[in-house]
Amino acid sequence: MKCQSPVHLRFSEDGKFRILALGDSHEKIKFTEKTEDMLRLLNAAAERLHPDAVIFMGDLVQRENEEEGRRATEDEMFEQVQRLTTPFTSRGIPVGIVFGNHDGDPPAEMKKDVFALFSRIPRFLNTDESGVTGVGNCFVPIYDSKDEKMLFNLWLLDSGSGAQDGRDGYAWVDDDQIAWYENTCDAITAENGGVVPSIFFQHIPVCEEYRLLRETTILNPYRVKGMAMYKGKYFTRGPDLEGYLGEGPAVPAKNNGQFDSWKKKGDVIAAIFGHDHMNRFQGEVDGILLCQTQLTGFTMWGDGLRQGVRVIDLDETRPGKLATYMVYYRDFFGTKCKSISPYNLLSDRWHINFKNTLGVLGVAAAAAGIGVGAKKLYNIRKRKK
Ligand SMILES: [Fe+2]
Ligand SMILES: [Fe+2]
Repeated sequence: MKCQSPVHLRFSEDGKFRILALGDSHEKIKFTEKTEDMLRLLNAAAERLHPDAVIFMGDLVQRENEEEGRRATEDEMFEQVQRLTTPFTSRGIPVGIVFGNHDGDPPAEMKKDVFALFSRIPRFLNTDESGVTGVGNCFVPIYDSKDEKMLFNLWLLDSGSGAQDGRDGYAWVDDDQIAWYENTCDAITAENGGVVPSIFFQHIPVCEEYRLLRETTILNPYRVKGMAMYKGKYFTRGPDLEGYLGEGPAVPAKNNGQFDSWKKKGDVIAAIFGHDHMNRFQGEVDGILLCQTQLTGFTMWGDGLRQGVRVIDLDETRPGKLATYMVYYRDFFGTKCKSISPYNLLSDRWHINFKNTLGVLGVAAAAAGIGVGAKKLYNIRKRKK
């Protein structure tokens, strides 16, 4: 199975390979101090973490200028692409992407135009020759340091936008994409004399993330609302979830069997997702590590100082294994941040869901109020006696 990526990835001589997954950037046409903060984060990540490759996890750039009621020009689009990628391309680091639901906002065909702009940057990892639903679906092998053997594989998949049947919720990966993955995986396995351990990158998380959560009815600062087929229920972190759960995973409206397909093929050791701006957790489900990446951009809601990047470390002496963790803006710069809001600072300080905490405090205050009222009433009645 010939890889069509124009970039050849291999482990460095010390036997290490480091990937950075960069959560939603939501870059805007207009350069503001929010862009400045994001660029500080991206430059620090490139300079201090020394990645061998980076993958942007979708919801990348702005095409509609809502404020001015017009579409961005090609130059404005390319400026945004360059802002995101220059911190890496200027250091010779290859860049890949997966498209997010906002990249596919109507008209969807513009995704092809955005892909063409990314294709102009040096050492761009993706190709767009899968011939199936979506743009930029591809696989990228990583060879050993001697450049003899394919040791790992990276899958980059476009997970779509809204639900295909119009119902409330996000898109599911289509049947033809699953078939393409399975057929390509079979070919890679046959060519390499066995399954090649793989990491899957896509924007929208799989429904199986809910298996890392525990349903709850009790209001507490860590409770989140379920989404899509889990709507109407509340959840909190389960015992296998490591990291921070800041919102209910925004999964597809229907489970189309993508996770089962990974299990059937046996190559996927980890899957990395964007989309959930406030989630930065990881946890293993049926032997596959599911990882959420926090936002890297500052233009959308988020914890501000916890905007960050996910590090994925591979070692050629440990095939099929990886180490992964988040590095945050605050790890580089503390609380020095131009676009941080007081809300972000409070949220960062306590590292909790602020809205839920207000809810808990509200219930406690109401309970205290009822208690005081009842006591007053009891005293009045006692005096009357
Ligand atoms: Fe997003
Ligand atoms: Fe998204």
